[in-house]
Amino acid sequence: MQLENASTEQLEQWETELAEQYQGFLGQNLKLDLTRGKPSAQQLDLSDALDGMLGGNYQSKDGTDTRNYGGLEGIAEARDLGAAILGVSANEVLAGGNSSLTLMHQAVTFAYLYGPCAAGSAWKDENDIKFLCPVPGYDRHFTICEDLDIEMIPVTMTDQGPNMDQVESLIKSDSSIKGIWCVPKYSNPTGVIYSNNTVNRMAKLGKIAAKNFRIFWDNAYAVHDLVDTPKPLANIMDACRNEGTEDSVLQFASTSKITHAGSGIAFLAASENNLNAFKKRLGTATIGPDKVNQLRHMRLIPDGDALRVHMEKHAELLKPRFASVLNHLDQHFANSNLGQWQRPEGGYFVSFNTLPGLAQEVVKLAGDLGVKLTPAGATFPYGKDPDDQNIRLAPSFPSVEEVDATMQAFVVCVKLASVRQKLQQLNG
Ligand SMILES: Cc1ncc(COP(=O)(O)O)c(C=O)c1O
Repeated sequence: MQLENASTEQLEQWETELAEQYQGFLGQNLKLDLTRGKPSAQQLDLSDALDGMLGGNYQSKDGTDTRNYGGLEGIAEARDLGAAILGVSANEVLAGGNSSLTLMHQAVTFAYLYGPCAAGSAWKDENDIKFLCPVPGYDRHFTICEDLDIEMIPVTMTDQGPNMDQVESLIKSDSSIKGIWCVPKYSNPTGVIYSNNTVNRMAKLGKIAAKNFRIFWDNAYAVHDLVDTPKPLANIMDACRNEGTEDSVLQFASTSKITHAGSGIAFLAASENNLNAFKKRLGTATIGPDKVNQLRHMRLIPDGDALRVHMEKHAELLKPRFASVLNHLDQHFANSNLGQWQRPEGGYFVSFNTLPGLAQEVVKLAGDLGVKLTPAGATFPYGKDPDDQNIRLAPSFPSVEEVDATMQAFVVCVKLASVRQKLQQLNG
């Protein structure tokens, strides 16, 4: 369908046909949901051996009785796993509770209240703290900032990662910028992997930014590949070491989408200075993490080979769902300007852009059919997509059949909204 050169008569005919198809979906009382970036039950089943895994043996490798208090940094073998996922050494890792989002929230809050490093570096003591937010991005990052009244400055995402010219120029001109959110591999929602050049330029930010600036490197999808030979992500900590900027980055990951989403292990990897500062604050809030859970995880996934095999099983379940989304988009929009999307090689999302001004309308049309889509704007700070065009599609949770049914309705909603917009433009 090409709207550009279509006559009014042609557009009206399309509108009638699409409205009929839409009515057909209305009659089906659909109850579909493509909003949730969470694993399906089948994926969760892959880790059910966690239950009863310990068989009464609670001792970690170094003899620690994991049932007892202590061990703020987590057990040694869990720190090894975090190190393998994030490409650092184990002594740079803290293995914590079940959520990396919590670790990010704590890192931001600690930096705000006490400073990320030396005394006198607290963000709260400065005016108008700001964060750079590559867009579209992860809504929960934005909520952390909004909650603390940290102003968010959107930065354009390219297919190489955030637009680094923009990032560098903003940071150079404004020392009140204290952070940037990054999802460097299979970015949420675009699926982009940051290029080597982007990673190297990120590592240099510590030289031009304020001393208490931090990169929040949320590598949530570090091992979540959908292809056999995934593109590697350059190692940010190595790049920082080359630049002497190790303190400028805080890395995060978790097993949320590896084992059981609500009861996994989260990791923070950071320089010695940053880790010590973090632990000092964390130690006032807890005596230690759930080491029993950490041990269960390490018995289930004892090493890198086991992790790879396990993630391949996830990929097998996810691939048909992603294929369904992409097939529908290819089939209906490949030769049109009605939508643009990326083809992620991993992660949990497909990011779709409608024609400008239509995302809210498409989400509403779909919602009226009983097809839930992520609210338009959710991928932007303050929920405001200036072009009203980004929609995040999350196919992991529903069954393949449900994804397929959802996409059938979705493409009709996109076409209908697009044709109606064009008719409106023509009719003034
Ligand atoms: C980019 C990103 N970071 C963090 C999370 C949440 O991670 P966790 O479950 O470890 O808190 C998600 C979940 O969707 C995510 O997409």
